[in-house]
Amino acid sequence: MRAPIRTAIAGVGNCASSLVQAISYCRVQGDAAVGVSFPTLGGYTPQDIEIVAGFDVDSRKVHRRIGEAVMAAPNCTQVFWDKLEDQTAPVHRGPDLDGVSAFMRNQPPEISFVPSEHPALSADQIVDELKKAEAEVLLIFLPVGSTRAVEFYAECALRAGCALVNGIPVFLASNPGWAKKFADAGLPLIGDDFKAQFGATVVHRTLAHLADLRGVKVDRTYQLNVGGNTDFMNMMDMDRLVMKRESKTEAVQTAMDNRLGDSDIRIGPSDYVPWLHDRKVAYIRLEGQLLGGARTSIEMRLEVEDSPNAAAMAITAIRCARIAREKGMSGAIHDASAFLFKHPPEQVDDPEAYDRLLAFAGDA
Ligand SMILES: NC(=O)c1ccc[n+]([C@@H]2O[C@H](COP(=O)([O-])OP(=O)(O)OC[C@H]3O[C@@H](n4cnc5c(N)ncnc54)[C@H](O)[C@@H]3O)[C@@H](O)[C@H]2O)c1
Repeated sequence: MRAPIRTAIAGVGNCASSLVQAISYCRVQGDAAVGVSFPTLGGYTPQDIEIVAGFDVDSRKVHRRIGEAVMAAPNCTQVFWDKLEDQTAPVHRGPDLDGVSAFMRNQPPEISFVPSEHPALSADQIVDELKKAEAEVLLIFLPVGSTRAVEFYAECALRAGCALVNGIPVFLASNPGWAKKFADAGLPLIGDDFKAQFGATVVHRTLAHLADLRGVKVDRTYQLNVGGNTDFMNMMDMDRLVMKRESKTEAVQTAMDNRLGDSDIRIGPSDYVPWLHDRKVAYIRLEGQLLGGARTSIEMRLEVEDSPNAAAMAITAIRCARIAREKGMSGAIHDASAFLFKHPPEQVDDPEAYDRLLAFAGDA
């Protein structure tokens, strides 16, 4: 058996919960585990991942074992595996920075973040904890809009010698400056913003591409998303949404032969519906023209449990970080990012991205 892929997580929210559950679930279920993308990749299975540290700010999560922290409020995702005794990594108290917005501080505690009274670790202390835990990968699952917090953890990863997997829409792998920093440090950087396993982005891209393939002229489109978790609550603060909108919109624009005008495409999180909890509903509409300008439109609704949808990609991206390290690759890893992320350093069609991922992993 190969050495476990020792991974730390910044942001122990719903996506981290699904990831931690998934690892323990796969350890027990093995080949019988349901819904695993890439059951083996480059010889690695999801159960080769070991979570060795977590960093959060919430009083209900810090200074607890990660197996307990992921079950604490305000996390509300579906519990598909509750036997988490093997998940003993400590959750440390990181700095708030811009992770907790003024808007979130004013929401009821059961649906928002409650910063812990414990003193936050400094950057030096976080680097020490990463080294002590022998973490080789740091995964970012911080709230949308946490630019300073993401950059803070990226600097910690560089200093601690960790590869970085960036699950959120703050641009690192797709930012040449950050890609160079990781290249100079000899460390892989994979991102940005997970393209969920069967999410609105990949479905929307597929529909738009299908229209192109069949010669349909797409005139306009929207994708409206609602959900009831803290991610959706946090995104009610429109000022934090700029990069999320850009990431989601570009993911669809780049799937089409011809870009739409800015006023003909509208994509983003649209509302917070408390009773949906971690369920997300996406409404996708495309309008266009068939032969001779004849009208057509398609309207569809996708419903998913939001967080396992991202965790499925996280268990793949973490394995890609190990494979990149084994291959001596550093900087932005294009071939591992295009299939797994909405805003990769290089956008390619999903079928080509799939082939590139397999070739990168040596599974082609
Ligand atoms: N669900 C998906 O399909 C999907 C897809 C792509 C990207 N994402 C992104 O992944 C991220 C995580 O999503 P989630 O649903 O787990 O969110 P969440 O709100 O459940 O979790 C965020 C966690 O970060 C913690 N946090 C806040 N500030 C922090 C700080 N400064 N340092 C450390 N921890 C801090 C919170 O306490 C919370 O535990 C979001 O940015 C989301 O948009 C999700």
